[in-house]
Amino acid sequence: MTTTLITGGTVVNATGTNRADVLIDGERIVAVLAPGSTLLGHDLAAGVDRQLDATGKYVIPGGIDAHTHMEMPFGGTTASDTFETGTRAAAWGGTTMIIDFAIQKYGERVEDGLAEWHRKADGNCAIDYGFHQIIGGVDNDSLKAMDSLLDEGITSYKLFMAYPGVFYSDDAQILRAMQKAADLGLMTMMHAENGPAIDVLAEQLVEQGKTTPYYHGIARAWQLEEEATHRAIMLADVARAPLYVVHVSAKQAVAQLTAARDLGKNVFGETCPQYLYLSLEEQLGAPGFDGAKWVCSTPLRSRAEGHQDSLWQALRSNDLQMVSTDHCPFCMKEQKELGKDDFRKIPNGIGSIEHRLDLLYQGVVTARITLPRWVELTSTTPARMFGVYGRKGVIAPDADADIVIYDPQGHTSIGLGKTHHMNLDHSAWEGFEIDGHVDVVLSRGEVIVDESGYVGSKGHGRYVKRGLSQYLL
Ligand code: URP
Ligand code: ZN
Ligand code: ZN
Ligand code: ZN
Repeated sequence: MTTTLITGGTVVNATGTNRADVLIDGERIVAVLAPGSTLLGHDLAAGVDRQLDATGKYVIPGGIDAHTHMEMPFGGTTASDTFETGTRAAAWGGTTMIIDFAIQKYGERVEDGLAEWHRKADGNCAIDYGFHQIIGGVDNDSLKAMDSLLDEGITSYKLFMAYPGVFYSDDAQILRAMQKAADLGLMTMMHAENGPAIDVLAEQLVEQGKTTPYYHGIARAWQLEEEATHRAIMLADVARAPLYVVHVSAKQAVAQLTAARDLGKNVFGETCPQYLYLSLEEQLGAPGFDGAKWVCSTPLRSRAEGHQDSLWQALRSNDLQMVSTDHCPFCMKEQKELGKDDFRKIPNGIGSIEHRLDLLYQGVVTARITLPRWVELTSTTPARMFGVYGRKGVIAPDADADIVIYDPQGHTSIGLGKTHHMNLDHSAWEGFEIDGHVDVVLSRGEVIVDESGYVGSKGHGRYVKRGLSQYLL
């Protein structure tokens, strides 16, 4: 067992910041002490195996990305990051835990989908991981199978109001699943877009010859995100179930969540870096087929309409509680290209797992969020929301030593050939210049990234059985 002392840094938790040294014994943090402290008369620095100097830097709990899709089959192809490549890229960016989505569809057993996800991840991850369960085919069998999710350490599951014929659930199915979830104490995660209406608009656009990536954003109109968000909130209310809306991008959907929370409903929302920075006009509307890089659902929204400002504001006011990536990478070559003549055939998803902490930190730099809020949005609330708090999401005694030393004076240039370790032939974030730098990353006490780069190992990451959400009433 290695003992490590991180000295001279500013420890940032969701509760605040303080100058402190962090003592680690093996996999766990054992003490957070005033700088230069002795312990029972012993000079700590002299007694430890390893000392890490964090002078002038932030010492933060490792990031938790609660929304990723490694090796996800979609639109006739498969997301390009494996658990190995995706979790390694996560580590580079200061994320020390992911929660990925195991998948069940019509005619498939939930147990089989889950077993397949364990097979994909087991022995391959650089960092710890957990699973949510997608229920893409709600019927008596899958409802029954939800009973055993808690024993599997899965305390949240996702439904889709979008993608008819693939993952889609109608209102009756949603209500039944939510009632079941309320009984069990599971958190319902919702993809809130009106899929059947989107499919009508998409078909009409293609018939008019409007086939480029830009029209993906037009077909997936904000009204259809607002409407589905409202419907999900009302169905959850009837079922007395807590609700977590994933990848919120429209300001009108934020307003639905805000209104519901103001009425005391137990609803939550997540957004993703792409919705905070990128837009319908600049990215989806890029010349030729280039916009395909940014085809994801919900879609990037119009900058002119002010969605980005509204999302930042909601992150500050806690009407949105978390930022995850929805990491679902597809290469341009042979993957995004499937939709060259028809935007409906472009596999949906963006790769961002490596950049979430850096991108959100720009919100601190530009005075949109505070330093503790940065940590809360990227680590502490994900831990509380998905049942790993205490063990993860905080720098405190007894927590896993999942720690990032972040240099606010450092600089990170994003792009191919610079910082890019995702298995992707392009970067959705090409050219982004970041104030700040992930210097050192520890996963359960082991240094997995340092100034020389990634020094971790495949298979170090373990499956984490999660407890109940701390947001259940
Ligand atoms: O475009 C996206 N978001 N792809 C991943 C699947 C989903 O809906 O989260
Ligand atoms: Zn989704
Ligand atoms: Zn997703
Ligand atoms: Zn550095």
